[in-house]
Amino acid sequence: MEINALNAAIIGCGVISDIYIQSLQEKFKIIEPVACYDRDEARMNTQAEKYGLKPMSYEAILDDPSIDMIINLTNPAAHYEVTKQALLHDKHVFSEKMIAVDLKQGQELCDLAEAHHVRLGVAPDTFLGAGIQTARYIVDKGLIGTPLSAVVSLNRDFDVYADIFPHMNQAGGSLPFDTGCYYMTALANILGPAKRVTSFGRKYQPDRVGKRVDKPWFGEKSTVAADNILTAVVEYANGTLATVHFNSENILTEVPQLDIYGSDGTLNMGDPNNFDSQNYLQKPQNERTAFPFTHGYRENSRGLGAAEMAWAIRQDRPHRASMTMAYHVFELIHGMYISATTGQIYELQSTFDRPEALLTGYVDRGFWGPTQESALAF
Ligand SMILES: NC(=O)c1ccc[n+]([C@@H]2O[C@H](COP(=O)([O-])OP(=O)(O)OC[C@H]3O[C@@H](n4cnc5c(N)ncnc54)[C@H](O)[C@@H]3O)[C@@H](O)[C@H]2O)c1
Repeated sequence: MEINALNAAIIGCGVISDIYIQSLQEKFKIIEPVACYDRDEARMNTQAEKYGLKPMSYEAILDDPSIDMIINLTNPAAHYEVTKQALLHDKHVFSEKMIAVDLKQGQELCDLAEAHHVRLGVAPDTFLGAGIQTARYIVDKGLIGTPLSAVVSLNRDFDVYADIFPHMNQAGGSLPFDTGCYYMTALANILGPAKRVTSFGRKYQPDRVGKRVDKPWFGEKSTVAADNILTAVVEYANGTLATVHFNSENILTEVPQLDIYGSDGTLNMGDPNNFDSQNYLQKPQNERTAFPFTHGYRENSRGLGAAEMAWAIRQDRPHRASMTMAYHVFELIHGMYISATTGQIYELQSTFDRPEALLTGYVDRGFWGPTQESALAF
């Protein structure tokens, strides 16, 4: 029996849609992209023609019973409404990060998915890639002993980035949400839920002007919505203490840092925004060693989280890029901003079950093999 794929519609035909559609068409056969919609008609038609999809209005997609799943690749400000409409129409949804902009909206979407008995999965899905799954293998196997503390540092230059993607200086798009979520999701996958967080923030030069002559917002004035420098301390439920540093007003060259210090070793993880981040393990009285990858998906495999969710639907088991983990990370980053504003420690309200680690090794042609039988054999 061949794979019984889920039919999906792609909503939002921008930059990231190419790699999603290519991954789903060429690698993850469990999802068949059949239709697309973008409020920008030209973009919708370009992607429809390029990938053989049917351009449709969102209303028509929602009313089409043959479409099982919505893949929400719109900008963060549109995530809530697009996802909400899909859930109300009993469609499964996989959404790009983050789940929404407001905490309340995020919770409402989780409640809606449950009430409508459909799945909601949320990126980032790089935590399913070779780099972070290998990091989890190292920690789960006890190779650093008991995790005690962690360090996160992420720097970028939003004078450049946000002039290309203006949502990065708008609510819900700031560095901790846009890119910090990769770091905090990687730690969530390895360490589990956080308990509380305390934070300081700073808003540096909030008044901006569009500088790129190739963009329609050239010369337009805007104001940075949230603190663009944020430092935090997170206490995880397992006792690990993490120091977090986000700075979007530095220089373009990133120096990503994501380290876990354990009772018997140190793990340097590399950039969690990539699928192939190399892990380095330092054991007592030993050389620091590049740890071999234990897992597949080193190449850019965006769409992996959606594909894994589709298999989970077919196999009637929990999916890994879960709404509960996504909401928890979302609440944690909101908690940083809340703490920075109030001067109080923020206690996390949500929790989640750590997703199962992926299977080790590389399985070609799809997630767990090319057919449903081979998938079920694992
Ligand atoms: N660009 C990247 O490298 C990257 C990487 C990972 C994740 N992401 C995430 O993917 C999502 C999309 O990012 P992008 O870079 O493709 O942005 P983009 O601006 O290139 O594309 C977004 C598209 O969504 C469309 N859109 C917005 N609101 C809509 C609505 N209500 N209905 C229909 N279409 C709507 C826009 O017209 C646009 O074509 C974001 O959540 C982003 O954080 C982007």
